[in-house]
Amino acid sequence: MTAKASSDGLMEEIVGLCKRRGFIFPSSEIYGGYNGFYDYGPLGVELRNNIKQAWWRDMVQRRDDIEGLDSTIIMHPDIWKASGHVDGFSDPMVDCRESKLRYRADQLFFAPVIVAGETIGYVSVVECPEQQEIAEKAAADIKRKAAKQGTLEPIVLKDYTESKPEEYDLVPSPATGKPGSLTAPREFKLMFETKVGPLADDSAVAYLRPETAQGIFANYKNIVDTGRVKIPFGIAQIGKAFRNEITPRNFIFRSREFEQMEIEYFIAPSADWKALHREWIDTCIDWLVSIGLPREDISEDIHPEDKLAFYSRATTDLMFQFPHGEQELWGVACRGDYDLMQHQEHSGKSMTIFDEASKEKFVPHVIEPSLGVDRTLLAVLTAAYTIDEVPNDKGKVEQRTLLKFSPKIAPVKAAIFPLLKNKPELVERAQALYKKLQRRWNVFYDASGAIGRRYRRQDEIGTPFGITIDFDTIEKDGTVTLRDRDTCEQRRVTEDELIQFLEEQIDG
Ligand code: GAP
Repeated sequence: MTAKASSDGLMEEIVGLCKRRGFIFPSSEIYGGYNGFYDYGPLGVELRNNIKQAWWRDMVQRRDDIEGLDSTIIMHPDIWKASGHVDGFSDPMVDCRESKLRYRADQLFFAPVIVAGETIGYVSVVECPEQQEIAEKAAADIKRKAAKQGTLEPIVLKDYTESKPEEYDLVPSPATGKPGSLTAPREFKLMFETKVGPLADDSAVAYLRPETAQGIFANYKNIVDTGRVKIPFGIAQIGKAFRNEITPRNFIFRSREFEQMEIEYFIAPSADWKALHREWIDTCIDWLVSIGLPREDISEDIHPEDKLAFYSRATTDLMFQFPHGEQELWGVACRGDYDLMQHQEHSGKSMTIFDEASKEKFVPHVIEPSLGVDRTLLAVLTAAYTIDEVPNDKGKVEQRTLLKFSPKIAPVKAAIFPLLKNKPELVERAQALYKKLQRRWNVFYDASGAIGRRYRRQDEIGTPFGITIDFDTIEKDGTVTLRDRDTCEQRRVTEDELIQFLEEQIDG
């Protein structure tokens, strides 16, 4: 039997496992933590690196049309003026004057409670999968308390950015349940500021980048001039991004310091951008499936035309079934020539490219697949987290927790066990195999405890293969036992077969 914990408990269980086994810790924990910041421990950093390496290998190294880049985190502040971030990169926020809590206005939902045509109050709820049920229950309570006869009209939730000034004093704060303490929505700037150089005045203000994309646009001309790129081509970058999120939440899903894997894919203005957009969406979905996310947990959210930014032609978000609901994992946007045109205008440098094929000069348009490393890691953990039941050493069925990571991204690829730790010939042979495998992959050696307990410890951190050296290895044919984490099936293989199998599974 295999089961997932209920979605409520699932996040808690994943957070607990991540802390217990050294994947992810709250940042600055000895000082009580720091909201919106997380540290990656020994297993977390391996998993994270493996995700980034798989992405880089598949999106850059195994493609002929994409070049890599690593630009600085702090760039000339004019870049952020040109891109529109200085003036426009903000979220609407609302404060509760009484509780001092702050909400993102687009994540705070409210509705009038209308009975027999008369508004008798308002309900409010912070965005969550059960928001409709919560709001309806609250509305029924208001009707009962008001002893109002008549039919309660359907509760139609709107987000707080759509509230009217006359409603600000009527909508209850989700913190206190009482109206009158919420402020009007205000824009809250998301870029972190810092100062660069010896002057402490406004001329020294610089920003920690809120996306890696602008580093790509700022270097586009360098790559065109120094590389041998031909339209269509892409520039890819992996790196840190920083946003002063109003409500960092859901573990590493929305944090204030995170990492992005972004591509700007430059195409001719006359290209069939709709077809190329579709191609990118499919490439992204295939890649997510290749690192172990179930296809059925990925869906597409096509932004309606009237909600698109003025420069955007189309945006499709790839959504994933996270423990806290279906949420954006990967944005694939068609941004036209907006960014390059802005930089051309603000820097005074031409962003045109000469296209040999069409003999035309133009400023290219872009398709932008933009993915968060941390969000991918949370998706991978969510998909991998499993509880099943298997027999222990004595044949008694017990529950086990395991992480079904794909071997491609698993932090530890294989664990090597001598059957008994007090038999030097077994230990020596196991150590020799461990050292040999360690030259190629991150593997683990464990000689302590009953073999069943050693398997369980590895199952819990997602090690896909267990390799045991026993007396048959020494005395008979040199074969080892290879155990599969998910099925617990064991088979004997020679060392050559083992290495070929690991190569196919891990590097394939
Ligand atoms: N250059 C486009 C851009 O940055 P975005 O939708 O703001 O677009 C792209 O971000 C991706 O970066 C998101 O789909 C998500 O995976 C990740 N991301 C954005 N904000 C994040 C945050 N606060 N914490 C973790 N990941 C985040």
